[in-house]
Amino acid sequence: MFCKTLAAAGLLASLAITAVHAATAPTISVSGSKFFYSNGTQYYMKGIAYQLTEADPLIDTEQCQRDADLMSTLGANAIRVYHVDPSGDHDGCMSAFAGAGIYLLVDLDTFTTAIDPTNTSWNQTQYNAFAKVMDAFASYTNTLGFFVGNEVIALANQSLAAPYVKAATRDMKAYRSSKGYRDFPIGYSAADIAELRPMLQNYLACGTNSSETIDMFGLNAYEWCGNNDMETSGYDTLNTYAEGYNIPIFFSETGCNTVPPRTFEDQSAIFGSAMNDIWSGAIIYEWIEETNNYGLISYGPTVAATAVASGVQAGISRTGTPTPVSPDFTNLQSQWATLNPTGVASSAYSPSLTAPACPSSTSGGWLVDGNVKLPSLGQTLATGTSTAAVSSTGSATGSAATPSATGKKSSANGGKEIAGMSAGLLAVMLGFMYWL
Ligand SMILES: *[C@@H]1O[C@H](CO)[C@@H](O)[C@H](O)[C@H]1NC(C)=O
Ligand SMILES: *[C@@H]1O[C@H](CO)[C@@H](O)[C@H](O)[C@H]1NC(C)=O
Ligand SMILES: *[C@@H]1O[C@H](CO)[C@@H](O)[C@H](O)[C@H]1NC(C)=O
Ligand SMILES: *[C@@H]1O[C@H](CO)[C@@H](O)[C@H](O)[C@H]1NC(C)=O
Ligand SMILES: *[C@@H]1O[C@H](CO)[C@@H](O)[C@H](O)[C@H]1NC(C)=O
Repeated sequence: MFCKTLAAAGLLASLAITAVHAATAPTISVSGSKFFYSNGTQYYMKGIAYQLTEADPLIDTEQCQRDADLMSTLGANAIRVYHVDPSGDHDGCMSAFAGAGIYLLVDLDTFTTAIDPTNTSWNQTQYNAFAKVMDAFASYTNTLGFFVGNEVIALANQSLAAPYVKAATRDMKAYRSSKGYRDFPIGYSAADIAELRPMLQNYLACGTNSSETIDMFGLNAYEWCGNNDMETSGYDTLNTYAEGYNIPIFFSETGCNTVPPRTFEDQSAIFGSAMNDIWSGAIIYEWIEETNNYGLISYGPTVAATAVASGVQAGISRTGTPTPVSPDFTNLQSQWATLNPTGVASSAYSPSLTAPACPSSTSGGWLVDGNVKLPSLGQTLATGTSTAAVSSTGSATGSAATPSATGKKSSANGGKEIAGMSAGLLAVMLGFMYWL
């Protein structure tokens, strides 16, 4: 009942808004290792992970408008959404965000279609589902790009799934061309797994055939906590690995919360001279405050986890007027306000970057040996070789041991701050089931 009412309201609102005016934004495209607005100015991503429930957050126009307005105040110019319903009407929300100069990065996969590292496949069902999401968002000028996966590889011993990620990339790039869509980048968002650095990022970009390589690489990294610096955070190591990379690289999630309040000092490194020639920005995890304490706003006070009320799931209000979480919201706002690198104009940028070499395998380490032949559509990785048999957290069903149950679809990311969240997540998951 609640859902239907909400959907109806959203539909009416979106009809009303699109009838009046649909905002557009200049498109952004990739050249070399950088993003550029169509006027040639370099684009640095100041993004927010935006997933209010497990459902598509880009349907309810009024909610999007309220959030877009406050994100604009915050200084954001991108959102990242993990799960969408391609059959929904996104016109109102995409217009609301376009009007605020906010671009969308969206994952093509969802709970049932994500590549599962414990039973790995790239099949027609997945292909069709990914293609539908691309179709749904391809025409919006403020669609920045797509991910074929988020943390598909969640453990150091799951690297044999990487060729499947690359096969999905190959087929989605071919699909993009076949439909005549603009060349929005198709990339991958990786868990920060020390043992696989930099092999994973290099493998996905390697080889001489650009029809098979990712167009951008996002790293979900929570290494910089509190008063760290380049050295103590490990960012200098990340920088070393990213130097000379031939495609854009950015933080597709960041925002360690183990030293509260969050001061987001890593932003001054990312957008400062140490990193801004190599990296293209960062997406802060996350918009809504949940039990994991990563939120920048809340829609209302926390209530009992069992409470049944309009807009409330698992004790958290998930619609309404966003109220900044203090002082984290203003801390990020202050950081971003002072960080406006100009970068380089596209007209002055003629990179001569080459794809990285395909890494060789090492025993017990990176398991893909060089530029292996990619799986064809329908191929599966024989169980047993996939280093499967991992715990249930390795499944693609959303029982995620990650910062957010709403945000993620697969397993533990190897980040240290993640441990110990399972209980809260379980509560959240149970909350969803209850609500559904
Ligand atoms: C290019 O467009 C962006 C986004 O609208 C804007 O911020 C920037 O100032 C523009 N650059 C120039 C040189 O006009
Ligand atoms: C395709 O892969 C998905 C995700 O792993 C799986 O759920 C589905 O059963 C597979 N479909 C076929 C026809 O094998
Ligand atoms: C692996 O996935 C296939 C579909 O791709 C499915 O038929 C099979 O039951 C799955 N195996 C396990 C162990 O989950
Ligand atoms: C590049 O990859 C595409 C997709 O796999 C393939 O169709 C094409 O033949 C490849 N080109 C070369 C030169 O190998
Ligand atoms: C992969 O690593 C995880 C965590 O270290 C471990 O639990 C699992 O048994 C490993 N899987 C295999 C097949 O070695």
